[in-house]
Amino acid sequence: MSNNNIQIFDTTLRDGEQVPGCKLNTDQKSVIAEQLDRLGVDVIEAGFPVSSPGDFKSVEAISKIVKNATVCGLTRSVQNDIKVAAEALKYAVKPRIHTGIGTSESHIVHKFKTTQEDILRRAFDAVKYAKSFVEDVEFYAEDAGRTDNEYLAKVCEVAIKAGATVLNIPDTTGYCLPSEYGAKIKYLKENVKGIEKAILSCHCHNDLGLATANSIEGVINGARQIECTINGIGERAGNTALEEVVMVLKQHPYLNLDTNINTSMLYGMSQLVSDSMGIYTQPNKAIVGANAFAHSSGIHQDGVIKNRETYEIIDPKDVGVTNSAIILTARSGRAALAYRAKNVGYELTKLQLDEVYANFLKFADRNKEINDNDIHQIIETSKVYQEILSA
Ligand code: KIV
Ligand code: ZN
Repeated sequence: MSNNNIQIFDTTLRDGEQVPGCKLNTDQKSVIAEQLDRLGVDVIEAGFPVSSPGDFKSVEAISKIVKNATVCGLTRSVQNDIKVAAEALKYAVKPRIHTGIGTSESHIVHKFKTTQEDILRRAFDAVKYAKSFVEDVEFYAEDAGRTDNEYLAKVCEVAIKAGATVLNIPDTTGYCLPSEYGAKIKYLKENVKGIEKAILSCHCHNDLGLATANSIEGVINGARQIECTINGIGERAGNTALEEVVMVLKQHPYLNLDTNINTSMLYGMSQLVSDSMGIYTQPNKAIVGANAFAHSSGIHQDGVIKNRETYEIIDPKDVGVTNSAIILTARSGRAALAYRAKNVGYELTKLQLDEVYANFLKFADRNKEINDNDIHQIIETSKVYQEILSA
């Protein structure tokens, strides 16, 4: 792995699956895991094995089938969680245990009702115990986003001493500003003793719509792993969207940060997750939404038909979408109508187009969107139809 390679840690099957109303069975999870492996993710967080027999079974099944990616299981800083995770991961070619504990004042005082010192001790013991099962141990400092940086650095030091290979810095509540999250990563890079023995990981939630921006600031400031989900699904407002961070890095090559993702599989992956979970993707969702490459205003359509790059920063084929879509509505111009008419077999002259366009506008005022059948009807009911046919 080069120093500029960003590891993609997919948690669709763990944090993503915590989305209300979703429950995947082991077979569905296995299909998604196999596709994630083909997509090129580096780590698949397959579940939280101690949480239910079903989750245990899924992590075990995924461990058996994944060929390339590391397979990871989540635990609390509790010995039994770790033992059960190790058992579920025993068939994995590359197993990872992801253990951790809350580190913010809010978590220490209200959730654990304990002290900072006790949390340090529990973090150390959990990583040490996980290391007795697997070499690859990731530690998460839950609510790191709201944890004081000086204390967070101590937690990271303790985890590294116990053998952690990855330090996850979650903005669990999605609170941080990008500048703040980036500064946190920079602070840890500069102040944690032994930091060269581990990589820092961004795990951002989207409560303020900043998950992607925060993850990107994280890697610009030295983190080398991003934790994310397909379509950005997850609890509350969700997690960082995999397709977004991957495409941000691809479309900004001067950042000199890359991933191992085969981006042409992103659209198919998004559809698979959305169909399996029964969770509809909003049409304006970046990269994979139905409207991400659709143009409906006349000015934009005219530009895109002349040259796609006038209004598109991504070639749709790069993410697995066959074509940019020219949507015909009452706001469309002649260029869009001529383009769509040509697609269904009519090459119109300028005069014919003027005539058909007048008919189109009357039709479009009565209908939200004009489909291919409507185009045939519009042309067939135009005064110039016979002339078009005889051409
Ligand atoms: O958001 C979070 O803090 C988490 C951890 C359990 C990694 O999902
Ligand atoms: Zn999370």
